[in-house]
Amino acid sequence: MLQESAIGELRAPVSVPEWIPLPSRKRNNAYSRRLRTIIMELIQKRCESGESQGDLLDMLLVARDEKSGHGMTDEPICDEVIMIFLAGYDTTSLALSWTFFNLIHNPTVEAKLHYELDTVLDRRQPTLEDLRNLPYTEMVFKETSRHQPSAYFQTRYVYSDVKLGDMLVPKGSTVMFSSYATHHRDDLWDEPFVYRPERFADNAEADWHPFKYFPFSHGPHVCIGKRFAMMEGVLVLATIARQATIRLADPNYVVKPVPRITFQMSDFPITVIPRR
Ligand code: HEM
Repeated sequence: MLQESAIGELRAPVSVPEWIPLPSRKRNNAYSRRLRTIIMELIQKRCESGESQGDLLDMLLVARDEKSGHGMTDEPICDEVIMIFLAGYDTTSLALSWTFFNLIHNPTVEAKLHYELDTVLDRRQPTLEDLRNLPYTEMVFKETSRHQPSAYFQTRYVYSDVKLGDMLVPKGSTVMFSSYATHHRDDLWDEPFVYRPERFADNAEADWHPFKYFPFSHGPHVCIGKRFAMMEGVLVLATIARQATIRLADPNYVVKPVPRITFQMSDFPITVIPRR
């Protein structure tokens, strides 16, 4: 089962034993139980109806272990659904929110983006086929994923002693590594704190070291939604930015980063101004 109190733990300055009923833990556990109840009801309804909707839930219900031939019970299916929901929803919506934040503060980038969208799409909605003709829109989304990576750190459990440079990382440790930190190293990036989508021109990252830019991580646990997230992010950005300019509702309002389990922001009160 997913760690119910994981988010509360991350923000706690010291590690508090599991059995102590912190208010945040109680709250998180109540939310978690509610989410599980909703998803279990969905699973049961789908099984009872016998209908196939060709979606992820269908795939999980028919999945069979290669060796035993057994399917999953409702509990692990519920875990998988929650994982996809949490991994795919918060990350993408944050990437889009930070993109609009960056556009507000970088009018030249915004003007270039609008020019591309107006030229390629004119007054129609973007489709999948348009993606290859929207390189600047993609560069904008990629630069946000560098500057404010939604999943800005990951952890790995160390199963055996490992030497990292001069340092021995002993078996049993948990290592944290951060894309945010790497994406802002001035030995790797020119003016890392400047928002500059042009870094990604002509698919430049194809020549970079794989751990220079890794908003979706790497290795066996690389984001399984990476391609989908890129497609979704660029399409949603194009859809909104084609039709509207986003501005802060109060120009003096200061939006602050709130690094939790994802790279969140404080409130982002906006005004939506129709463009065309
Ligand atoms: C901008 C959007 C997204 C970002 C920045 C992002 C980032 C990441 C990162 C960094 C990891 C690796 C975590 C680790 O190494 O421990 C990850 C894993 C994962 N992502 Fe995403 N993700 C995004 C969107 C999505 C979407 C749309 C889906 C699903 C449709 C998804 C599903 C997953 C899943 C299931 C994992 C776990 C993979 C595993 O542990 O084997 N993500 N994501």
